[in-house]
Amino acid sequence: MFGARCLLRFLRSCSSAPCPRHKPSAKLSVRDALGTQNASGERVKVQGWIRSVRSQKEILFLHVNDGSSLESLQVVADSSFDSRELAFGSSVEVQGQLVKSLSKRQNVELKAEKIEVVGNCDAKAFPFKYKERHPLEYLRQYPHLRCRTNVLGSILRVRSEATAAIHSFFQPSSKIKVPEENFFNVPVFLTVSGQLHLEVMSGAFTQVFTFGPTFRAENSQSRRHLAEFYMVEAEISFLESLQDLMQVVEGLFKTTTMTVLSNCPEDVELCHKFIAPGQKDRLEHMLKNNFLIISYTEAVEILKQASQNFTFTPEWGADLHTEHEKYLVKHCGDIPVFVINYPLALKPFYMRDNEDSPQHTVAAVDLLVPGVGELFGGSLREERYHFLEQRLARSGLTEAYQWYLDLRRFGSVPHGGFGMGFERYLQCILGIDNIKDVIPFPRFTHSCLL
Ligand code: 4AD
Ligand code: MG
Repeated sequence: MFGARCLLRFLRSCSSAPCPRHKPSAKLSVRDALGTQNASGERVKVQGWIRSVRSQKEILFLHVNDGSSLESLQVVADSSFDSRELAFGSSVEVQGQLVKSLSKRQNVELKAEKIEVVGNCDAKAFPFKYKERHPLEYLRQYPHLRCRTNVLGSILRVRSEATAAIHSFFQPSSKIKVPEENFFNVPVFLTVSGQLHLEVMSGAFTQVFTFGPTFRAENSQSRRHLAEFYMVEAEISFLESLQDLMQVVEGLFKTTTMTVLSNCPEDVELCHKFIAPGQKDRLEHMLKNNFLIISYTEAVEILKQASQNFTFTPEWGADLHTEHEKYLVKHCGDIPVFVINYPLALKPFYMRDNEDSPQHTVAAVDLLVPGVGELFGGSLREERYHFLEQRLARSGLTEAYQWYLDLRRFGSVPHGGFGMGFERYLQCILGIDNIKDVIPFPRFTHSCLL
C-alpha cells in the first residue's frame, strides 16, 4: 500500500492543465479531506466507493471511502441527484465544496456539485450488505472484495504501517536491506528462509535484514500456518550473546508496535473493539513489561509440573508443541517469553553448540507470545569451522554447504540472527485469531483461491 497521502498529493500536483475560467478542483484523499482544518468552501474532488446512502427529506447523504482511512467522507447532495444510481458499493467521483459540518460526527463534509458514477455496483449481487457486520470467515470467501470492508481495510492499513515501521526500525542504524533473489538458470527452490544468504551479506555489511515472502510446504490448516507468509529476518555480525540478540528482538517488537499504535490508532481500535475485546489491555501489558527469559530445560520442568494434561507429554529432548507454548505464556503472566538453549538434536546444523554436555544444547531462542505462540525463532550461528564441519558431516550436507563453510574459513566472526513471522506479529498485536485474515491473499494447504 502506497502512503496514500503521498501518492494522492503527487497525483494532484500533476492533474490536468488548469482551465482558464475555472480553477480546477484539487483532488483530495478522503483522509486529507477529513483532516482539513477550517474548511471554508474549497472546491475539491474526491474519488472512492460508496459505503452508505441515506436520504432524509430532500437531502441525500453518502459516505465515500477510498481506503486512505477507516472513516468515510460524508457527501451531502440535494434532490437533483438520482439516488438510484448512487448504490452501495459503486465507485464515484464527487466534486464540490468542502465545508464545516453542522453535525458533531464529522468536522467537514463535501457539498456535492457534481457526482459521477464511475462504476455501478449491483448491490443485490454484491456479497457484502450495507450495515451488516459480516464474520471474518464469511469475508474469507471473497479475497478479491473483502479489502473493501471496514475490518479488512483496517487490518491491511495496519499491515502497511507495520511494514514501514519495520523498515525504519532497521534502516537508520545503517543496516542494509538485502533484496530477495529472483531468476536463475539452474534448478531452484522457493525459499523457506533467507537466513543463509543473510549470513553471507552480514560477512560484508555487518548488520543486514530482509523482509519478503517465504514458502513452506506446511501440511497444516492451523490458524497460525500459511504456505506463503512474510518473514522479517536480521543477521548481525560481531554479536556474541543471546542476550544481545534478544534485545534487538524485543526492541523490534516494541518499537514497531508503538509506531503502529501512534500512526493508525483508529484501525487498531476497530480490531480491539469489535474482534478482540480485551486485546488493548493485553497489548499494553506486553509493551510495558520486560519480556521474560527461561531456558528450554526450565520450560520442560514447568510443563512437567503443570496440573494440565497435555496431548504431547512434555519431556526433555522433545519439541515444544502449541499447547506447551500456550501454557508457558500463561504461566509467565501473559508476557512474551524467550525460551533459550534447546537440545542440539532438535535444532538445525547452523546453531551454535553450547558445549554443555551431558545435556548438549545450542544457543537457540524462540519468542513465545500470548495468543499466537512462537513468533520469533533465532540463534547464535556456529562460527567455528571445525564444529560446523562436523555437524554438516553428520547430516550428510558437507558437499552442498562448502560455500557456507567458506564463510568460516575466510574472516569468520561470531554472529547471530532471527526471523519473525510477520502475519503472526499482526495477529499478536491486533488479536486476530486466524492468520488467513491478516494477509491479502492467504495461501495454505489445499487452498490458493487467488
Ligand atoms: O522458526 P523459523 O522456522 O526460523 C527460521 O526460518 C530461521 N531460519 C529464521 C532466522 O533465524 N533467520 O521461522 C521464523 C518465524 C517463526 O517463528 C514463525 O513466526 C514464522 O516464521 N513462521 C510461519 N508463519 C506462518 N506460517 C508458517 N508456515 C510459518 N512458519 C514459520
Ligand atoms: Mg521456529
